[in-house]
Amino acid sequence: MNGFGIYIHWPFCRSKCPYCDFVSMPAKNFDFQIWQNAYVKSLKLYAGRTADKRVSSIFFGGGTPSLMTEEVVSFVIETIRSLWTVEKNVEISMEINPCSVDVLKMQALKKAGINRLSVGVQALNDKDLKFLGRLHSVEQALSVLKNAERIFPRVSADFIYGRPNQRLNDWKEELERILELNLRHLSLYQLTIEEGTVFYKKGIQPPEDELSADLFELTDRMTYQAGLERYEVSNHAVQGEECRHNLLYWHAGEWIGIGPAAHGRFTQNGSFYATAQDSSITDWAKNQKASEIVLTTKEKAEELILMALRTREGINRKSFYEVIKEEPEAFMHTGTLQDYQTDGFLICDQTGIRTTAKGLMILDALCRTLLI
Ligand SMILES: C[S@@+](CC[C@H](N)C(=O)[O-])C[C@H]1O[C@@H](n2cnc3c(N)ncnc32)[C@H](O)[C@@H]1O
Ligand code: SF4
Repeated sequence: MNGFGIYIHWPFCRSKCPYCDFVSMPAKNFDFQIWQNAYVKSLKLYAGRTADKRVSSIFFGGGTPSLMTEEVVSFVIETIRSLWTVEKNVEISMEINPCSVDVLKMQALKKAGINRLSVGVQALNDKDLKFLGRLHSVEQALSVLKNAERIFPRVSADFIYGRPNQRLNDWKEELERILELNLRHLSLYQLTIEEGTVFYKKGIQPPEDELSADLFELTDRMTYQAGLERYEVSNHAVQGEECRHNLLYWHAGEWIGIGPAAHGRFTQNGSFYATAQDSSITDWAKNQKASEIVLTTKEKAEELILMALRTREGINRKSFYEVIKEEPEAFMHTGTLQDYQTDGFLICDQTGIRTTAKGLMILDALCRTLLI
């Protein structure tokens, strides 16, 4: 068993960033009572099916969950504690936007039970923050980070690189300044242009492949030298500071997803369930509808392989076997696997199968061709 997590999705933000296709919409006023009731009803539904599991992580994501009141956050956490056994060292994370918190709010969130913050900083220059549609300045974001570190034991920050007009050297200088912040966890995402977003409609282009590969390599090298090794495509941490909740997704863990568009994966009586909550924000608040399917062993195996190949540890043979009862190679083309090893994209040994730094750069193509 690789841990059990609970994801809570809060689908509102102060404004919609032009690059973002997360299920979120801008709003000023919220009916907190409706949302609290909806979360609790949905939690109770899944508790009936997963009460034998011990909660190792809770993650408030969004949207901008720092717009929730501390009362709702506390009520949700207490409800979880009343429905499941919660591990003593449970990780309880929240994503926050620097423009929606102050010191008092952070203190209240800590009191409500949050013990890890992920701050959306995105850029360390005001011009790019403006281009990204952010409502905060660099100064504001850095002040929130500084206070967050005083209040919370674990703090991470998100950045987006590969912005239009950002040259390799610009990112090098910015990343140097990011690393000087001495955070123990960083999520560094290359800008993707998602269909339906404002950036997509404006025809904004991501960097050319060659620059994109150079940016990725530079990020890999600089974070490694600073002691924040990459442990997943976009995530870097000091050893032991990895986000345990995200590790669930990538390493055969189980979780339930509560809130609009949230996904879940858990076993019940030996079956692999995949759940998807209704993605309509207003409908979900009213009736918490969800669809679900039972995955075949092959579907589950493929999912585990694709997720694990994103990570430094890769597919762990032992935990894969515990879930699937077969070796991972049973689901791969033997010749392709051998070619990728010979060409230095994959490493395959007694512990498992993992992607090299070179392999990570062609991850999509690699995944497309490897599975039977
Ligand atoms: C749910 S948001 C984090 C919290 C909060 N909503 C905020 O933006 O400050 C998750 C993160 O995904 C990243 N992200 C979202 N859309 C992206 C895109 N199109 N390309 C790259 N990164 C993206 C951003 O770094 C963002 O902080
Ligand atoms: S990046 Fe964060 S703040 Fe911006 S729209 Fe997406 S979820 Fe909301």
